[in-house]
Amino acid sequence: MARRNLVGSRGLITGASSGIGKALAEELIRRRCRMIVAGRRTERLNELKKLGEDFGAEIIPFVGDLADPDARMQLAATARETLVALDFLINNAGMGALGRFEDMPPERLREVMELNFFGPVELTYEVLPLLKEGNRPIIVNVSSILGHRGIPWRSYYCASKFALQGFSESIRAEMSRHGIDVLVVSPGRTRTELFQGPLERGTEPAWPEPKPVSPQYVAQKTVQAMLRGKAEIVPHVWGAGMVLLSRFFPRLMDRILRRYA
Ligand SMILES: NC(=O)c1ccc[n+]([C@@H]2O[C@H](COP(=O)([O-])OP(=O)(O)OC[C@H]3O[C@@H](n4cnc5c(N)ncnc54)[C@H](OP(=O)(O)O)[C@@H]3O)[C@@H](O)[C@H]2O)c1
Repeated sequence: MARRNLVGSRGLITGASSGIGKALAEELIRRRCRMIVAGRRTERLNELKKLGEDFGAEIIPFVGDLADPDARMQLAATARETLVALDFLINNAGMGALGRFEDMPPERLREVMELNFFGPVELTYEVLPLLKEGNRPIIVNVSSILGHRGIPWRSYYCASKFALQGFSESIRAEMSRHGIDVLVVSPGRTRTELFQGPLERGTEPAWPEPKPVSPQYVAQKTVQAMLRGKAEIVPHVWGAGMVLLSRFFPRLMDRILRRYA
Protein backbone atom coordinates (compact mmCIF):
# COMPACT_ATOMS: atom_id res chain seq x y z
CA MET A 1 0.00 0.00 0.00
CA ALA A 2 1.25 3.50 -0.78
CA ARG A 3 2.62 5.34 2.23
CA ARG A 4 2.01 8.76 0.72
CA ASN A 5 0.41 10.49 -2.24
CA LEU A 6 2.66 13.20 -3.59
CA VAL A 7 -0.02 14.97 -5.63
CA GLY A 8 -0.08 18.65 -4.70
CA SER A 9 2.54 18.24 -1.98
CA ARG A 10 5.02 20.91 -0.88
CA GLY A 11 8.74 20.34 -1.24
CA LEU A 12 12.26 21.52 -1.83
CA ILE A 13 14.76 19.98 -4.20
CA THR A 14 18.42 20.97 -4.54
CA GLY A 15 20.43 20.52 -7.73
CA ALA A 16 17.26 20.79 -9.82
CA SER A 17 18.89 22.48 -12.82
CA SER A 18 20.29 19.31 -14.43
CA GLY A 19 20.61 15.54 -14.34
CA ILE A 20 18.83 13.53 -11.65
CA GLY A 21 17.52 16.62 -9.84
CA LYS A 22 15.96 18.06 -13.00
CA ALA A 23 14.36 14.72 -13.87
CA LEU A 24 13.00 14.48 -10.31
CA ALA A 25 11.62 18.02 -10.49
CA GLU A 26 9.87 17.15 -13.78
CA GLU A 27 8.33 14.00 -12.25
CA LEU A 28 7.05 16.02 -9.31
CA ILE A 29 5.79 18.86 -11.51
CA ARG A 30 3.59 16.28 -13.26
CA ARG A 31 2.15 15.60 -9.79
CA ARG A 32 1.40 19.34 -9.42
CA CYS A 33 3.75 19.76 -6.46
CA ARG A 34 4.47 23.22 -4.99
CA MET A 35 8.22 23.23 -5.02
CA ILE A 36 11.34 25.28 -4.45
CA VAL A 37 13.93 24.27 -7.02
CA ALA A 38 17.51 25.23 -6.15
CA GLY A 39 20.70 25.53 -8.19
CA ARG A 40 23.09 28.16 -9.54
CA ARG A 41 21.80 28.36 -13.13
CA THR A 42 18.86 30.79 -13.19
CA GLU A 43 17.77 30.03 -16.77
CA ARG A 44 17.49 26.29 -16.14
CA LEU A 45 15.41 26.87 -13.02
CA ASN A 46 13.15 29.30 -14.88
CA GLU A 47 12.52 26.58 -17.49
CA LEU A 48 11.16 24.41 -14.66
CA LYS A 49 8.97 27.30 -13.53
CA LYS A 50 7.55 27.52 -17.05
CA LEU A 51 6.95 23.77 -17.16
CA GLY A 52 5.20 24.09 -13.81
CA GLU A 53 2.79 26.62 -15.31
CA ASP A 54 1.80 24.07 -17.96
CA PHE A 55 0.96 21.48 -15.30
CA GLY A 56 -0.53 23.77 -12.64
CA ALA A 57 2.46 23.30 -10.31
CA GLU A 58 3.82 26.35 -8.48
CA ILE A 59 7.59 26.37 -8.90
CA ILE A 60 9.76 28.76 -6.89
CA PRO A 61 13.33 29.04 -8.24
CA PHE A 62 16.10 29.66 -5.71
CA VAL A 63 19.45 30.67 -7.17
CA GLY A 64 22.45 30.20 -4.91
CA ASP A 65 25.71 28.38 -4.31
CA LEU A 66 24.86 25.71 -1.75
CA ALA A 67 28.53 25.21 -0.92
CA ASP A 68 28.09 28.55 0.89
CA PRO A 69 26.49 28.19 4.36
CA ASP A 70 24.80 31.63 4.02
CA ALA A 71 23.05 30.51 0.83
CA ARG A 72 21.77 27.42 2.66
CA MET A 73 20.33 29.64 5.40
CA GLN A 74 18.67 31.84 2.75
CA LEU A 75 17.21 28.76 1.07
CA ALA A 76 15.73 27.57 4.35
CA ALA A 77 14.33 31.08 4.99
CA THR A 78 12.72 31.04 1.53
CA ALA A 79 11.06 27.71 2.38
CA ARG A 80 9.76 29.13 5.68
CA GLU A 81 8.35 32.24 3.99
CA THR A 82 6.80 30.62 0.92
CA LEU A 83 5.81 27.06 1.79
CA VAL A 84 5.46 27.27 5.60
CA ALA A 85 5.55 23.44 5.84
CA LEU A 86 7.39 20.80 3.82
CA ASP A 87 6.17 17.35 2.77
CA PHE A 88 9.50 16.46 1.17
CA LEU A 89 13.10 17.64 1.13
CA ILE A 90 15.32 16.21 -1.60
CA ASN A 91 19.05 16.77 -0.96
CA ASN A 92 20.40 16.05 -4.42
CA ALA A 93 22.97 18.75 -5.36
CA GLY A 94 26.43 17.25 -5.54
CA MET A 95 29.79 17.38 -7.24
CA GLY A 96 32.43 14.83 -8.20
CA ALA A 97 36.19 14.87 -7.66
CA LEU A 98 38.46 12.70 -9.75
CA GLY A 99 42.08 11.96 -8.93
CA ARG A 100 44.51 9.89 -6.91
CA PHE A 101 44.54 10.85 -3.23
CA GLU A 102 48.26 11.75 -3.34
CA ASP A 103 47.62 14.24 -6.16
CA MET A 104 44.53 15.88 -4.68
CA PRO A 105 44.92 19.19 -2.82
CA PRO A 106 43.33 18.97 0.64
CA GLU A 107 41.28 22.14 -0.09
CA ARG A 108 39.42 20.08 -2.69
CA LEU A 109 38.13 17.79 0.06
CA ARG A 110 36.68 20.80 1.87
CA GLU A 111 34.87 21.92 -1.32
CA VAL A 112 33.46 18.45 -1.88
CA MET A 113 32.38 17.98 1.74
CA GLU A 114 30.82 21.45 1.83
CA LEU A 115 28.43 20.66 -1.02
CA ASN A 116 27.96 16.87 -0.72
CA PHE A 117 27.84 16.57 3.07
CA PHE A 118 27.55 19.82 5.07
CA GLY A 119 24.99 21.12 2.54
CA PRO A 120 22.43 18.33 3.08
CA VAL A 121 23.07 18.13 6.83
CA GLU A 122 22.70 21.85 7.52
CA LEU A 123 19.75 22.29 5.19
CA THR A 124 17.97 19.35 6.84
CA TYR A 125 18.63 20.88 10.27
CA GLU A 126 17.27 24.27 9.21
CA VAL A 127 14.07 22.97 7.63
CA LEU A 128 13.34 20.26 10.18
CA PRO A 129 10.62 22.37 11.89
CA LEU A 130 8.89 22.70 8.49
CA LEU A 131 9.10 18.93 7.88
CA LYS A 132 7.56 18.30 11.30
CA GLU A 133 4.56 20.37 10.12
CA GLY A 134 4.38 18.46 6.81
CA ASN A 135 2.00 15.79 5.61
CA ARG A 136 3.68 12.34 5.79
CA PRO A 137 7.05 14.05 5.35
CA ILE A 138 10.13 12.49 3.82
CA ILE A 139 13.81 13.42 3.53
CA VAL A 140 15.49 12.05 0.41
CA ASN A 141 19.29 12.04 0.37
CA VAL A 142 20.89 11.32 -2.99
CA SER A 143 24.05 9.40 -2.19
CA SER A 144 25.78 6.94 -4.55
CA ILE A 145 26.89 3.33 -4.81
CA LEU A 146 30.22 4.95 -3.90
CA GLY A 147 28.67 5.64 -0.50
CA HIS A 148 28.73 1.87 -0.01
CA ARG A 149 32.10 1.01 -1.48
CA GLY A 150 35.21 3.14 -1.80
CA ILE A 151 37.02 2.90 -5.12
CA PRO A 152 40.37 4.29 -6.29
CA TRP A 153 40.50 7.76 -7.91
CA ARG A 154 37.39 8.87 -6.02
CA SER A 155 38.58 9.05 -2.39
CA TYR A 156 37.12 12.51 -1.62
CA TYR A 157 33.83 11.80 -3.38
CA CYS A 158 33.49 8.39 -1.65
CA ALA A 159 34.28 9.98 1.73
CA SER A 160 31.52 12.57 1.22
CA LYS A 161 28.95 9.95 0.25
CA PHE A 162 29.92 7.56 3.09
CA ALA A 163 29.42 10.47 5.49
CA LEU A 164 25.99 11.20 4.00
CA GLN A 165 25.10 7.51 4.25
CA GLY A 166 26.02 7.32 7.97
CA PHE A 167 24.19 10.55 8.73
CA SER A 168 21.06 9.30 6.95
CA GLU A 169 21.04 5.96 8.79
CA SER A 170 21.40 7.72 12.15
CA ILE A 171 18.63 10.21 11.61
CA ARG A 172 16.30 7.59 10.09
CA ALA A 173 15.84 6.09 13.54
CA GLU A 174 15.49 9.51 15.21
CA MET A 175 13.07 10.89 12.63
CA SER A 176 10.68 7.95 13.02
CA ARG A 177 9.57 9.62 16.30
CA HIS A 178 8.26 12.52 14.21
CA GLY A 179 6.77 10.35 11.46
CA ILE A 180 9.43 11.56 8.98
CA ASP A 181 10.78 8.93 6.56
CA VAL A 182 14.40 9.01 5.37
CA LEU A 183 15.14 7.56 1.94
CA VAL A 184 18.69 7.12 0.65
CA VAL A 185 19.03 6.90 -3.12
CA SER A 186 22.31 5.34 -4.25
CA PRO A 187 22.55 5.72 -8.03
CA GLY A 188 25.12 3.89 -10.09
CA ARG A 189 26.47 5.42 -13.27
CA THR A 190 23.83 7.80 -14.63
CA ARG A 191 23.96 9.87 -17.82
CA THR A 192 24.21 13.42 -16.39
CA GLU A 193 26.50 16.44 -16.42
CA LEU A 194 28.32 15.25 -13.28
CA PHE A 195 31.18 13.74 -15.25
CA GLN A 196 31.56 16.82 -17.42
CA GLY A 197 32.39 19.06 -14.45
CA PRO A 198 35.92 20.52 -14.27
CA LEU A 199 36.75 18.37 -11.24
CA GLU A 200 35.73 15.19 -13.04
CA ARG A 201 37.88 15.61 -16.13
CA GLY A 202 41.22 13.88 -16.42
CA THR A 203 42.88 10.61 -17.20
CA GLU A 204 41.41 7.80 -15.23
CA PRO A 205 42.00 4.06 -15.34
CA ALA A 206 40.25 2.06 -18.06
CA TRP A 207 37.41 0.75 -15.88
CA PRO A 208 34.99 -1.85 -17.13
CA GLU A 209 32.33 0.89 -17.49
CA PRO A 210 28.77 -0.23 -16.84
CA LYS A 211 26.12 1.13 -19.19
CA PRO A 212 24.74 4.33 -17.67
CA VAL A 213 21.04 4.62 -16.93
CA SER A 214 19.07 7.76 -17.70
CA PRO A 215 18.34 10.38 -15.03
CA GLN A 216 14.64 9.86 -15.82
CA TYR A 217 14.96 6.19 -14.79
CA VAL A 218 16.58 7.19 -11.47
CA ALA A 219 13.88 9.84 -10.92
CA GLN A 220 11.03 7.37 -11.57
CA LYS A 221 12.53 4.81 -9.17
CA THR A 222 13.04 7.55 -6.56
CA VAL A 223 9.46 8.78 -6.77
CA GLN A 224 8.18 5.17 -6.51
CA ALA A 225 10.34 4.69 -3.42
CA MET A 226 9.02 7.95 -1.91
CA LEU A 227 5.44 6.81 -2.50
CA ARG A 228 6.12 3.46 -0.84
CA GLY A 229 8.12 4.87 2.06
CA LYS A 230 11.23 2.81 1.27
CA ALA A 231 14.46 3.34 3.22
CA GLU A 232 17.03 2.74 0.49
CA ILE A 233 17.25 2.08 -3.25
CA VAL A 234 20.07 1.38 -5.70
CA PRO A 235 18.56 2.25 -9.09
CA HIS A 236 21.18 0.49 -11.23
CA VAL A 237 21.40 -3.30 -11.65
CA TRP A 238 25.21 -3.36 -12.12
CA GLY A 239 25.62 -0.93 -9.22
CA ALA A 240 23.45 -3.07 -6.95
CA GLY A 241 25.66 -6.06 -7.92
CA MET A 242 28.76 -4.11 -6.93
CA VAL A 243 27.28 -3.17 -3.55
CA LEU A 244 26.37 -6.81 -2.83
CA LEU A 245 29.74 -8.14 -4.02
CA SER A 246 31.65 -5.75 -1.79
CA ARG A 247 29.37 -6.49 1.19
CA PHE A 248 29.79 -10.26 1.02
CA PHE A 249 33.24 -10.55 -0.63
CA PRO A 250 35.14 -7.42 0.43
CA ARG A 251 38.62 -8.94 -0.03
CA LEU A 252 37.77 -10.08 -3.57
CA MET A 253 36.59 -6.54 -4.32
CA ASP A 254 39.87 -5.17 -2.90
CA ARG A 255 41.83 -7.44 -5.23
CA ILE A 256 39.79 -6.38 -8.26
CA LEU A 257 40.07 -2.66 -7.46
CA ARG A 258 43.85 -2.82 -6.93
CA ARG A 259 44.20 -3.41 -10.67
CA TYR A 260 42.75 0.02 -11.37
CA ALA A 261 44.63 1.99 -8.74
N1 LIG B 1 25.59 10.79 -12.43
C1 LIG B 1 25.94 9.73 -11.73
O1 LIG B 1 26.46 8.73 -12.28
C2 LIG B 1 25.73 9.69 -10.25
C3 LIG B 1 25.99 8.48 -9.59
C4 LIG B 1 25.79 8.42 -8.22
C5 LIG B 1 25.34 9.54 -7.53
N2 LIG B 1 25.10 10.71 -8.19
C6 LIG B 1 24.64 11.85 -7.39
O2 LIG B 1 23.47 12.40 -7.95
C7 LIG B 1 23.35 13.77 -7.55
C8 LIG B 1 22.97 14.62 -8.76
O3 LIG B 1 24.05 14.61 -9.68
P1 LIG B 1 23.84 14.45 -11.25
O4 LIG B 1 24.49 13.17 -11.65
O5 LIG B 1 22.44 14.70 -11.63
O6 LIG B 1 24.83 15.60 -11.76
P2 LIG B 1 24.60 17.01 -12.46
O7 LIG B 1 23.81 16.87 -13.71
O8 LIG B 1 25.94 17.63 -12.53
O9 LIG B 1 23.69 17.80 -11.39
C9 LIG B 1 24.24 18.37 -10.23
C10 LIG B 1 23.26 19.39 -9.70
O10 LIG B 1 23.82 19.97 -8.52
C11 LIG B 1 23.83 21.39 -8.66
N3 LIG B 1 25.00 21.96 -8.03
C12 LIG B 1 26.31 21.64 -8.25
N4 LIG B 1 27.11 22.43 -7.54
C13 LIG B 1 26.29 23.27 -6.83
C14 LIG B 1 26.52 24.33 -5.94
N5 LIG B 1 27.77 24.68 -5.57
N6 LIG B 1 25.45 24.99 -5.42
C15 LIG B 1 24.20 24.65 -5.79
N7 LIG B 1 23.91 23.66 -6.62
C16 LIG B 1 24.95 22.99 -7.16
C17 LIG B 1 23.87 21.65 -10.16
O11 LIG B 1 23.26 22.89 -10.44
P3 LIG B 1 24.03 24.23 -10.87
O12 LIG B 1 25.22 23.83 -11.69
O13 LIG B 1 23.00 25.01 -11.62
O14 LIG B 1 24.39 24.87 -9.57
C18 LIG B 1 23.00 20.51 -10.69
O15 LIG B 1 21.65 20.90 -10.67
C19 LIG B 1 24.70 14.15 -6.92
O16 LIG B 1 24.57 14.18 -5.53
C20 LIG B 1 25.62 13.01 -7.36
O17 LIG B 1 26.67 12.81 -6.44
C21 LIG B 1 25.28 10.81 -9.53
